[in-house]
Amino acid sequence: MKIITTLVITLAVGVLAIAGFVYSGLYDVSASSPHSGIVAWLLSKTSHASIERQARLIEVPDLADETLALAGISDFDSMCTGCHGAPGQDPEAMGQGLNPAAPDLAESAEEMTAAELFWVTKNGIKMTGMPAWGETHGDDELWPVIALLTRLPKLDSAGYQEMLANAAGMGHHTDDEPSGEHTHDQPAQQEESAPEPEQHDHDTHEHH
Ligand code: HEC
Repeated sequence: MKIITTLVITLAVGVLAIAGFVYSGLYDVSASSPHSGIVAWLLSKTSHASIERQARLIEVPDLADETLALAGISDFDSMCTGCHGAPGQDPEAMGQGLNPAAPDLAESAEEMTAAELFWVTKNGIKMTGMPAWGETHGDDELWPVIALLTRLPKLDSAGYQEMLANAAGMGHHTDDEPSGEHTHDQPAQQEESAPEPEQHDHDTHEHH
């Protein structure tokens, strides 16, 4: 009986201490300060295990077809590079302020399977800046982007720009769609910006 009373009191004190900490405002949620070691470890292990487990159920289509990657590069360029960067191109200001940082996807593509890349792209990652693109895009629109990701490790800056130019008009983000959702990426704008990989330099200066 005594043991049970002690356990209940310890539990109650523990719950109160946690609640006190939560409501105190002492935890620093700022993206500009790094996670403490234990929190970073917990988040990273939990995330990797979850991705690995969920990706097992995914059936990967044939990604070897070059036209599939070509169809994906314009979408990758408009949907992903702001945070992740591209060969020869740093992330934009938005991506530079993220914590956790958005990794270089050329490196991710070497470490992750196509199924894992697809699962993360479609479902996103909670409490990070990584969006769930499946909320607004069908699988058939996302697989071309994954086909491109699997080729990223072999693309240098020039190769990337050349492929982007060859893909003009391909992928749904370069289609002349009248619907409001995709009008931010008109083909004319893509063609103008394609030959200038340094276009994001103005975003890197300090604002102090
Ligand atoms: C608004 C910023 C943002 C955009 C846009 C974005 N991502 Fe991410 N992405 C992130 C962040 C932040 C992470 C890291 C999350 C983490 O550490 O758990 C991430 C992680 C990933 C990962 C896991 C990489 C790894 O090594 O663990 C993949 C794959 C990925 N993103 C694919 C994409 C693709 C494909 C697109 C475009 C369709 C995209 N992302 C667009 C922010 C973004």
